[in-house]
Amino acid sequence: MNETIKTIQNHRSIRNFLQREVEDFIIDTILQSAQSMPNSINGQQVSAIVIKDKERKEKMADLAGGQSWVAAAPVFIVFVMDFYKSNLAAKKNGLTQVIHESAEGTLVGAFDGGLAMGGAIVAAESLGLGIVPIGGIRKNPDEVIKLLDLPQYVFPLVGLAIGYPADESKKKPRLPFSTFKHEEVYHTQGLETAIKQYDETMEGYLKEIGREAEGNWSTYTSGIYQYVYFPKVYPTLKDQMFKNDK
Ligand SMILES: Cc1cc2nc3c(=O)[nH]c(=O)nc-3n(C[C@H](O)[C@H](O)[C@H](O)COP(=O)(O)O)c2cc1C
Repeated sequence: MNETIKTIQNHRSIRNFLQREVEDFIIDTILQSAQSMPNSINGQQVSAIVIKDKERKEKMADLAGGQSWVAAAPVFIVFVMDFYKSNLAAKKNGLTQVIHESAEGTLVGAFDGGLAMGGAIVAAESLGLGIVPIGGIRKNPDEVIKLLDLPQYVFPLVGLAIGYPADESKKKPRLPFSTFKHEEVYHTQGLETAIKQYDETMEGYLKEIGREAEGNWSTYTSGIYQYVYFPKVYPTLKDQMFKNDK
């Protein structure tokens, strides 16, 4: 295994950070890696907002549902889906942009945002930093938009808390590889058995880290997925002109 693959496969989210600054040139290296990732039609519909200000991080931690590690991280980067720049390109050419009103536009923006964050994560972890993505910023996306002065056609996707790790959390096991890799076509056979097996693995893992109250994968996931846990996302998308009606 080469070093890049070792870094990727050694990933675990970090929520305890040292009080050690992450220098600007390192933040720039991480974000240049994010910007180097592939993107749909080279439309480059992603931007990153770097937050180091203590008060703004504290406000963001509150808006994300009281996630203290957001405020404690020396740097918090919000990845936004950004069709503002492409809209300027449309205006420059006397055309009307409509892609942001479609489900395709939202998928493209969200997918490219995830790819960019993936590049940032690999870069950060390869430099010895720890990270945790924060989807909790979509709990109150309207407030996040105000806090970051996001213009129309821009929507906050996910934050990334970054800092030097204060502990090395235990790597979280994944579902059996057989549930992830499907040969030629999608195979439903064997999934229920694999989930049962993974639930047992997760029960052992959670016990080891003192979080047995979380149950296992299927109890935890289904408990969350029985609700639309961030109901403000859809109305706020529409406020930002992402109508999703085409
Ligand atoms: C898009 C996304 C959103 C996430 N949101 C949060 C979050 O709001 N708070 C948090 O503590 N962890 C969050 N996580 C981290 C996941 O809980 C974590 O990646 C998952 O449990 C797997 O654990 P691991 O990263 O340690 O392997 C998020 C991860 C992703 C990819």
